Amino acid sequence: MTTTTATRVLPADAAAVALAAERLRAGGLVAFPTETVYGLGADATNGAAVARIYAAKGRPRFNPLISHVADAQEARRLGRFNAAARKLAAAFWPGPLTLVVPKAAGCTIAALTTAGLDTVALRVPSHPVAQAILRAAGRPIAAPSANRSGRISPTTAAHVRADFPDALDLIVDGGATAVGLESTIVACVDETPVVLRLGGLARGAIEEVLGAPVGVRKAAGEAPQAPGQLASHYAPRAAVRRGAVQVERGEALLTFAGAAPPGTADAVAVLDLSPRGDFVEAAANFFSYLRRLDASGADTIAVVPIPERHLGEAINDRLRRAAAPRPPASTAPRSTG
Ligand code: TXA
Ligand code: MG
Repeated sequence: MTTTTATRVLPADAAAVALAAERLRAGGLVAFPTETVYGLGADATNGAAVARIYAAKGRPRFNPLISHVADAQEARRLGRFNAAARKLAAAFWPGPLTLVVPKAAGCTIAALTTAGLDTVALRVPSHPVAQAILRAAGRPIAAPSANRSGRISPTTAAHVRADFPDALDLIVDGGATAVGLESTIVACVDETPVVLRLGGLARGAIEEVLGAPVGVRKAAGEAPQAPGQLASHYAPRAAVRRGAVQVERGEALLTFAGAAPPGTADAVAVLDLSPRGDFVEAAANFFSYLRRLDASGADTIAVVPIPERHLGEAINDRLRRAAAPRPPASTAPRSTG
């Protein structure tokens, strides 16, 4: 007989941090807050533990995971940092930046974590709860966003519990995350750094530190390197209609900077990402507002045009994927991440 145990949710105090570290060291699955989104953590050096992440998320195996460490020193034991990687780490760690670098000799990250690649994705999160758990665990922790594959990323512990009511050892509740978008991923493998995924660190900030423009690797015709490169992703149940200049009957509206296109008054629900037009605030609200509008029961979420600058670039990237055509639910998993 099998029994199902409801996933435990504990407030992020010292006891919860200690229990999280103990469960992680024992090969368990623990969701915890980072400054970007909640992560679904497992010991990155333990292939069996990492396999449980893929199983819980329903994520295709070819997609490598980010390994989280407490500081840049630890990161540099795991990966080889060229000049650009060193600059970016110094400028933005701890923070919402992931660096993909060649594996160091003697790198202890399990092959399953990197999906067999000879590169490794490393991130030093700034969230104090993530920091405390990483230090207590004393090893790199693999952690994709704590949502089922292809679904909206979680910015609260309640979002995590909704996706994983019984599959995890523990959820550590540290409140709503501040950044709200996943980390920006930059590959520092070849001479020229390239953005693999737009995210919570604006591209302009990276270019300022590197003193040069940085390209975004495009998905078309290439093997997926980051989950955001797959077509459908971050998908709510409702359809998403971008660039809406009017609201159709029965739609919910996601707006920005106070925009109220014709039909707004009749919308099923309306949420403004940032009435004062602030991109940082908009990013922090983005995933939870998508969830709330999805829960309104509307068939379609109309979204006003979002300016393509600062974090608007990453928000538009997520919106394009949320709006992308979806394969039928009965066939292959619709996406990853
Ligand atoms: O903000 C974040 O980055 C969150 C929090 C929890 O830290 N994590 C996150 O992880 O978004 P995830 O697994 O959903 O997205 C990480 C992506 C992988 O799916 C993969 O495509 C890319 O990073 N990645 C990992 N290792 C890579 C590698 N060696 N080369 C290229 N891309 C890699
Ligand atoms: Mg994800």
